[in-house]
Amino acid sequence: MTDSITIALSKGRILDETLPLLKEAGIELVDDVKKSRKLVFPTTDPDVRVLVLRATDVPTYVQYGGADVGVTGKDVLMEHGGEGLYEPLDLNISRCRLMTAGLKGQPAPTGRIRVATKFVDIARRYYAAQGRQADIIKLYGAMELAPILHLADEIVDIVDTGNTLKANGLEARELIENISSRLVVNRTSMKMKHGALNPIIEKMSAAVDHRRAAE
Ligand code: ATP
Ligand code: PRP
Repeated sequence: MTDSITIALSKGRILDETLPLLKEAGIELVDDVKKSRKLVFPTTDPDVRVLVLRATDVPTYVQYGGADVGVTGKDVLMEHGGEGLYEPLDLNISRCRLMTAGLKGQPAPTGRIRVATKFVDIARRYYAAQGRQADIIKLYGAMELAPILHLADEIVDIVDTGNTLKANGLEARELIENISSRLVVNRTSMKMKHGALNPIIEKMSAAVDHRRAAE
């Protein structure tokens, strides 16, 4: 008997880039994910189903075995901590940088610093590693506003083109990590369902290589 596999995908920009990779790996969603209100999608492979979740929920579903495999950003995985997860494949999609940023031309204070971010654990670890005392303020979005309104001296956020920072009078300062989306696998599933999982991981890996070669 073949093991059934549940794959948790991140909705939004990662989903747009993951679906073509999955298709190249021979897994296609039966429904139009953009038009459907479903959360669980059957695929062209009767043994594979797909969940479409918020990126931040993907590691949690995979950690607790609600899904065997997941796709989410390295930023999300770093903030989650990666407990119970294997990370066998860099999908090389949704690439961006996790950076500190502040008001243009206004250097960060030398002493204790106030930092606004949704990546509170990453920020805490980063400033601690720098030997800097930081008060971390949790926000859920529009981090760029925090320095403008004197809520914080710096933010920790995703930077891609830099347009969002520029449009708000901010500048990028230090690189914390280069980010891309990763395939993660539940540790128990990796042992118990390796016969079904290995071909999926191998085909996804081939699809990534194929795309990289075409870049
Ligand atoms: P939610 O809507 O659940 O709060 P979100 O707004 O962070 O999540 P997205 O903006 O779709 O969701 O971002 C999901 C992931 O995509 C991020 O965790 C990051 O890995 C990557 N990402 C975010 N912004 C960019 C960007 N501008 N360019 C490339 N990748 C990005
Ligand atoms: C992301 C991120 C930054 C922006 C960076 O926001 O939170 O604000 O992209 O990209 P840039 O450097 O190319 O401007 P997103 O567009 O996903 O909006 P949201 O997080 O508010 O949904």
